[in-house]
Amino acid sequence: MTVRQLSHLRYLALAVEDLETEADFLSTHWGLSVAHREGDTVYLAAEGSPEPFSVRLRKADKRIDLISFGAHSRADVDALFEKLSAKDVKFVHPPQELTQFGGGYGMRFFDVDGRTVEVSADVELRQSRKINEREPIPVKLSHVVFNTANLATTSAWYVEHLDFAVSDTLAHPQMGPIMDFLRCNPAHHSLAIAQGPHASLHHMSFEMRGVEEWMRGCGKILRSGTRMVWGPGRHNAGDNTFAYFLSPARNTVEYTTELAVIEDEDAWHPSVLDVTKVTTQDQWGTANEFTELIARESFNDVDLGLFVAPPV
Ligand SMILES: [Fe+2]
Repeated sequence: MTVRQLSHLRYLALAVEDLETEADFLSTHWGLSVAHREGDTVYLAAEGSPEPFSVRLRKADKRIDLISFGAHSRADVDALFEKLSAKDVKFVHPPQELTQFGGGYGMRFFDVDGRTVEVSADVELRQSRKINEREPIPVKLSHVVFNTANLATTSAWYVEHLDFAVSDTLAHPQMGPIMDFLRCNPAHHSLAIAQGPHASLHHMSFEMRGVEEWMRGCGKILRSGTRMVWGPGRHNAGDNTFAYFLSPARNTVEYTTELAVIEDEDAWHPSVLDVTKVTTQDQWGTANEFTELIARESFNDVDLGLFVAPPV
């Protein structure tokens, strides 16, 4: 089995103007648990995940604060630091003991578009539990998708600098490639990069225990009055189910399950899937038609955090 440089996706940190409303949505309705709160920062955990938290919210003008990935060990964090230093990456800070909730040993730097990326090891894991049958809450953060104005450049940066591999690509006959699915472990994608008008959050996705729990989660969130932008369905790329909703701060959040696992990386051949074929996006034929208007919902607001490190 190929061992890639990063072990997994850890968390996504976002700043939102109305902290209480977004935190209440993600805890009361979406099914995350408040693990810790410190001033204007709320740390939300997924019950099925040993990560100390999977989403961090901070009260400030809306922006992406950072995306965090795990490394297998402290030595791997150091090795990656050496590699990135030689490539002229702009660092927020080199490897050090992390003082925020969850601790660990890590570093922060900017990606090619200016998003803050954290890579850490040795965090204080929390006691996770198996999600019960029919329990409609997330197991873990599944993947994050970013918009960029330069898909080829951004994807290539993650492949070259952080050892991601392209699992599959979505393309439009006229527009060319519009989304690259990137893996850092056997999960088909932990990160995806979408072509958009600007750098921003496309969506964050949470894995449910199975199709039954995913469907119950969808129903529960619909009953909370949350609008479903697109779904429910099953994608071709990644073979995962999808249902996208808009949070109060207008961030797109997804419930998913059964994301493909690439057991043998050496035998995997990335596909370029034509998005104009209905079965590419929606195998079951159950989702509402994907339109330009739906695509625009995920453009989100221009990220104000590029090349500006968050204060925590
Ligand atoms: Fe997704």
